[in-house]
Amino acid sequence: MKGIILAGGKGTRLYPSTKVISKQLLAIYDKPLIYYPLSTLMLAGIRDVLIISTREDTPNFERLLGDGSHVGMNICYAVQKVPRGLADAFIIGESFIGNDNVCLILGDNFFYGTDITLVLSRAAGRRRGATIFGYPVKNPQDFGVLELGRDGKVLSIEEKPSNPKSNYAVPGLYFYDNRVSDIAKEVKPSRRGEIEITSVNNAYLKLGELHVELFGRGITWLDTGSPSALLKASTFVETVQANTGYYIACIEEIAWRRGFITKEQMTAIGESLKMTEYGQYLMSYGRECVYE
Ligand code: TTP
Repeated sequence: MKGIILAGGKGTRLYPSTKVISKQLLAIYDKPLIYYPLSTLMLAGIRDVLIISTREDTPNFERLLGDGSHVGMNICYAVQKVPRGLADAFIIGESFIGNDNVCLILGDNFFYGTDITLVLSRAAGRRRGATIFGYPVKNPQDFGVLELGRDGKVLSIEEKPSNPKSNYAVPGLYFYDNRVSDIAKEVKPSRRGEIEITSVNNAYLKLGELHVELFGRGITWLDTGSPSALLKASTFVETVQANTGYYIACIEEIAWRRGFITKEQMTAIGESLKMTEYGQYLMSYGRECVYE
């Protein structure tokens, strides 16, 4: 399975902070925002990743993550000239996807929780159809929203409805089979001029091939598009890391735990960052961890 991180957009809700830099390069506590969606893909077992961003920002992502080989990944890059909608990822990424299935994650989406690896592996393991998720929120009108039947089956998905039919928002994490690029090409722009991911999901729903998993209380999903959401996410990461001693979205640690790199490689990266707690964490894990 391939992975795409869509990390372009305008970031207007974060102006002036994002006037000259992508929001996905801003820090969530101690690491750039893009580390979080990248770590989600790594936890799903995905090693081939395409990062799509703007013409101005793509070189910065390349400087940050390179070809990904330091964390045992293959990372490549593509430019989205105009932010014309989320479904554009499958058109831009068509040749990258090739004959594989694909997972799309939005560059500003943050997932954390106990069973997340299990949930991701299950979705990645489905050969056919699409898998999306539902997450209860207080402000569903700001998202794609699920309409659920009595049996929990999805009846419809509405994009930013004024009268939401449930409080289940669809987070920015989606798994598709290989038909997704062809389906995306058929999507007509919405009233706001975007080719909507909701239209792609509705196409799979119509085919009877849309799987929906509802996230429970054990999983935290944060959308980090506004200043207060950014702060909330930073505070969350700081609190969890300080209380448990485990880092969130430490891509080198995940790479080592999943066998993408050796302990020595992880420790060497720690050495190069030893002036930071992040680097010291990597070094101490390399020295002391007994759960290899
Ligand atoms: P949004 O938060 O909907 O848009 P934005 O990032 O431009 O922010 P704002 O609303 O403040 O102007 O985008 C969600 C994610 O998807 C975000 O990571 C940017 C990315 N995105 C693209 O890369 N290309 C697109 O065409 C769109 C619509 C979004």
